[in-house]
Amino acid sequence: MKRLVPTIAFTAFLAAYAPSEPLRAETGAEAWLRYARLDAHASRQYENLPAIVVMFGDSALLNSSRDELVRGIRGILGKTPRISRRLSHEPAIVLGTLPAIQKAFPELRSPQNLAADGYWLTTIRIHGCDSFIITASRDRGVLYGVFAFFSKIARGESVKNLDESQQPYAAIRWVDQWDNLDGRIERGYAGRSIFFENGAVRADLSRIADYARILASVGINGCTINNVNADAHLLDDDHLPQLVRVANVFRPWGIQLSISVDLSSPKIIGGLDTFDPFDPRVVEWWRKKSDQIYSAIPGFGGFVVKADSEGRLGPSAYNRTHADAANVIARALKPHNGVVFYRAFVYNHHLDWRDPKNDRARAAYDNFHPLDGKFEDNVIIQIKHGPIDFQAREPVSTLFTGLERTNEAIELQVTQEYTGQQRHLCFLIPMWKEVLDFDLLVNGASLPVKDLVAGKTFHRPMGGFVAVVNVGLDENWLGHPLAMANLYGYARLAWNPNLTAREIADEWTSLTFGPNPNVVSTISSALLSSWNTYESYTGPLGMQTLTDILGSHYGPGIESSEENGWGQWHRADQKGVGMDRTVRTGTGYAGQYPPLLAKIYESLDTTPDELLLFFHHVPYTYILHSGKTVVQHIYDSHYEGADRAANYVRQWESLKGLIDDDRYGATLSRLEYQSGHAIVWRDAICEYFLRLTGISDAKGRVGHHPNRTEAESMQLTGYKSVSVTPWENASGGKAVECPPPQQTCSAQLTFEGTSGMYELDVQYFDQNNGESRFRIFVNNEVVDEWTANLQLPATTIGGDSSTRRSITNISLHHGDEIRIEGIPDREERAALDYAEIISRQQR
Ligand code: GCU
Repeated sequence: MKRLVPTIAFTAFLAAYAPSEPLRAETGAEAWLRYARLDAHASRQYENLPAIVVMFGDSALLNSSRDELVRGIRGILGKTPRISRRLSHEPAIVLGTLPAIQKAFPELRSPQNLAADGYWLTTIRIHGCDSFIITASRDRGVLYGVFAFFSKIARGESVKNLDESQQPYAAIRWVDQWDNLDGRIERGYAGRSIFFENGAVRADLSRIADYARILASVGINGCTINNVNADAHLLDDDHLPQLVRVANVFRPWGIQLSISVDLSSPKIIGGLDTFDPFDPRVVEWWRKKSDQIYSAIPGFGGFVVKADSEGRLGPSAYNRTHADAANVIARALKPHNGVVFYRAFVYNHHLDWRDPKNDRARAAYDNFHPLDGKFEDNVIIQIKHGPIDFQAREPVSTLFTGLERTNEAIELQVTQEYTGQQRHLCFLIPMWKEVLDFDLLVNGASLPVKDLVAGKTFHRPMGGFVAVVNVGLDENWLGHPLAMANLYGYARLAWNPNLTAREIADEWTSLTFGPNPNVVSTISSALLSSWNTYESYTGPLGMQTLTDILGSHYGPGIESSEENGWGQWHRADQKGVGMDRTVRTGTGYAGQYPPLLAKIYESLDTTPDELLLFFHHVPYTYILHSGKTVVQHIYDSHYEGADRAANYVRQWESLKGLIDDDRYGATLSRLEYQSGHAIVWRDAICEYFLRLTGISDAKGRVGHHPNRTEAESMQLTGYKSVSVTPWENASGGKAVECPPPQQTCSAQLTFEGTSGMYELDVQYFDQNNGESRFRIFVNNEVVDEWTANLQLPATTIGGDSSTRRSITNISLHHGDEIRIEGIPDREERAALDYAEIISRQQR
């Protein structure tokens, strides 16, 4: 959606906060490490920051720490500190591990035992001068301490009398990339791979180095660089020197390199006739491969394995278990301290949908719980946070309590596969907080997910957090300028899951856009409500994301979940909706939870509304705890969600002039697009359920669009009416397209309303296989024109491509002729859905 005239309601507000100096253009490439110069007033409190950096020790990590310190001070305060190896009588910022600094200052005592990766920031008097100490038990902790120090300064926090130590919650704080060797990224929405191109690691590693620095700045300590649907050839000998190059770039930032491997590698690339984990030749193959990797890459992290899932080969080929498969690799890695991340995302995607007892949600627990205790100590079972697949709403996975004698890690998804693909704003931290704080309560004991995955509950040697990130070559890493809040927030939660979502949103906004309180509160508020907003217009009440699960996972596709083996069923039919997962009458999934929770989910009365349809099949007239019927809730939430999406645009417009124009404009256009696409979602789902149930909307909105003129009922020149599949993804089930040999088509309507100021919206289809052009004329005068070039995930007209263009302030007179002209390009036929003319009062 595009708004041509910004609202002027915020002019007074802007004047009050307009910065005195022009804001420098920013691309977002620096993420939250902008080190933007503080103004004279804000930097006053750091005036006495020492001008010397003294470093004890020598290592790549310490060098990064020192260089970062210089870079930060230079950026934020405009001074260049001197570097020294010895203390003089001047105050200094002292860097080094605690044992190294204690050699010079035996009296320095850390406040508590600093665990691996923890850090301590403190101030002491040395030679009568106040100095800062940034220390840790290991070099990597020193680096984390430096970043923490700058996070404070960039956000304007006082560092006077600093004395703070922090320990990460868990040892494993990893990210995964789903990059393919050819440079494409599975479920990546921000350009091509920063790691690979044309079957090899890129020649230019500079983006990888930048990414490693960004990850290190928030305590991430490992990265798997290739798709879980692994190309076995990455283990080929000729790829090893390329992996060495990546590891060398990661190492100064404390990031361990790891790769996804295919379990059948011994057969595919090893020349064996088997990959049976019990075959001694296979055992030997993994051992040799691991030895070879470690001799080239000291400190290599290990392997990620996806097996017997979504068509990947696995141990079932030889009647072996997942423990057998994981252990053969784990034993090969063990002498080198490597780990295996074995994914619990294992399910049968050919389930018989006719059998009401079948349930994909059961799969992780059914597959892995019986194997508890059978895995080597260096195996980590990587568990998606919900039992299905990163939907907008799911209950927590039952497997978290299903493993007491096995390491586990939670898998979250920063790349917004099912949550708007970085074209919609969806800040996922509130969702992850709910998951991590969720208490699985066993025998009266509190068992929050965060403690289970961190290995605290059952005293496991390791465990923690993994997120699928999928940054790409887009300058701002994730496409949407606000999407990096999810990477930041993920890492902050992996470090400390007790932070609140608001704390994280405020921190990120302040670091990313500067500490102006109006900017911080406006952006934070939008972030914090955005997940619920997205959920409310894409499938509430635990129906999961009602998207096209067979293709893009993006726009509406309600029936795509049904009548196939993938098992993302919501079971909507004429009489009712929802999956019966109870023990009494359903699939029994509810019974996989510990008894107290199993009882809660078993009963309709105690299941929370937001998960009702995940656990129960109910009639549309079923009354929720809120007092509404299910169907009315579906209608209301979609209308409220779309309204909230429209509000994000207005809120964002209030920031004009307070942040740089580049990021302002890039964000505005994504929010405008989202606002239009939320209406596509709203209408598709509401009209679908209206037709299915025959129950009308108590508020009279669904199916009534008084301001709308369907393109197919306009006066058409060249345009032809076409039916759209599924019907609910175009208004009235139809659109018009401009077929060959037409070069230009037009659709015309006469404005019948009273003269005044209006918003004119044109709903059109923007495919990625052409760049059609559109022009709007009012009485033969061009009032707007644009090119459909958003690169949406669609080659046809439908819910993925449906896009809105808005002219927010247009003067119309009764009888005006409005003509929309479309010029098709290649496969894209300049298709139109409808036009809507909304008066100012109605907006
Ligand atoms: C989802 C996703 C796939 C991915 C899979 C996984 O199903 O759509 O692209 O491979 O998750 O996590 O393994």
